[in-house]
Amino acid sequence: MSDKKATLTFSDTGKSVDLDILSGTEGPDTVDITSLYGQAKVFTYDPGFVSTASCDSAITYIDGNAGVLRYRGYPIEQLAAKSTFIEVAYLLVYGELPTAVQLADFKEIITNHTMINDSLLRFFQGFHNNAHPMAMMVGVVGSLSAFYHDSIDISDPRHREISAHRLIAKIPTIAAACYKHNVGEPVIYPKNSLNYTGNLLRMMFATPCEEYEVDPLAERAMDLLFILHADHEQNASTSTVRLAGSSGANPFACIAAGTASLWGPAHGGANEAVLDMLEQIGGVKNIDTYLAKAKDKYDPFRLMGFGHRVYKNYDPRAKIIREVCYQVLEKLADSNNPLFELAMRLEEIASKDEYFLEKKLYPNVDFYSGIIYRALGIPDSMFTVMFAIARTAGWVSHWMEMLDDPRHRIGRPRQLYQGAGKRDYVPLDAR
Ligand code: ACO
Repeated sequence: MSDKKATLTFSDTGKSVDLDILSGTEGPDTVDITSLYGQAKVFTYDPGFVSTASCDSAITYIDGNAGVLRYRGYPIEQLAAKSTFIEVAYLLVYGELPTAVQLADFKEIITNHTMINDSLLRFFQGFHNNAHPMAMMVGVVGSLSAFYHDSIDISDPRHREISAHRLIAKIPTIAAACYKHNVGEPVIYPKNSLNYTGNLLRMMFATPCEEYEVDPLAERAMDLLFILHADHEQNASTSTVRLAGSSGANPFACIAAGTASLWGPAHGGANEAVLDMLEQIGGVKNIDTYLAKAKDKYDPFRLMGFGHRVYKNYDPRAKIIREVCYQVLEKLADSNNPLFELAMRLEEIASKDEYFLEKKLYPNVDFYSGIIYRALGIPDSMFTVMFAIARTAGWVSHWMEMLDDPRHRIGRPRQLYQGAGKRDYVPLDAR
């Protein structure tokens, strides 16, 4: 019960319904409509969840108008400057920054779960060499649910925690195996002496033929990208994980569902689509033509990496990534990278264009991330896989938070039915 109320009055009957207004620690007040159907026999209508808070959460806060993003209260800028991905993963899962001992324990636990059951590797033989790595990810991550039966009692918090550890630990191993399958090289097993992202780089780029040294710059750049991608409150893939998990589904299957949702070009697939787009644009001289296409509502072309459902200001992650782009490309002696030049020029021109200003369309996290990934040698088809690895920390945190909440129920939206009314079956010979 809340002291603040909203009253909804129906113009046809004059009937009024009082609804509680809930206040979070930050962000807009939220009208609690759970009693609405019971009181007034009406649903609310909000396709795409534009005005709907689907759950309570204490993990991530976004103020889209101010360009603010915080994990567990900590500004993304501070985490990006001072933290590591593994520490951020701990923060998301457990709610607090770890002590030195907690962090060391967590690192050890994650490291000790990085191997996957060897039978899983045989799954790859069923995929064609040119299978998209996200297609393999969806399949192989989902097939984790056929293993690890010792800890899938989702009513047991300890089992949930073990599943979360396994997911954070094993997804990079699966991701690297997807890449190795594409390039036809043998799978490289994890190495426990390496950090989370260094280990991933080695599993992707080492071969059995020679020693592989992790480049500290590449490791730090990837770690930073992972911090920035680790969570983003109730986005499409996270909401998919929650919805799948709300029925009590197997945790690995839920994360496979989130991975599938992430793949779309309107979501995590945008990083790959940005580089396709930049290549399609080809050079600064063609920017105006493509901006005109993006503004033409009869043309399906959109500026990929631009716009966001929540940010109506510069995405704070894009700001950080653009800066890292400079550093990475400079250190890799690639500071005249033509795609980066083109991306910056495109941003500059779009940021002065009436259409983009009026619709508040700014670069999002994916506008520059692909340029860094490509500079690190990651192929375009693996960009969204990188995103999935990082976002797994967020997905499992949301999945655990939901199941920890004693009020959680199966997610079951309703609909505004627009189909045919009742009609009688017509036999085949009479149609
Ligand atoms: N280029 C051109 N026009 C755009 C763009 C764009 N990138 N994004 C939005 N618009 C226009 C739309 O045409 C629409 O115009 P209208 O009001 O005249 O119809 C208006 O801006 C609002 O756009 P919607 O699609 O209604 O906004 P929504 O919040 O549903 O979509 C989305 C947000 C999907 C991110 C959209 O901006 C988009 O498609 N961007 C490109 C893809 C992309 O970068 N996705 C990554 C998002 S970040 C992430 O998931 C990690």
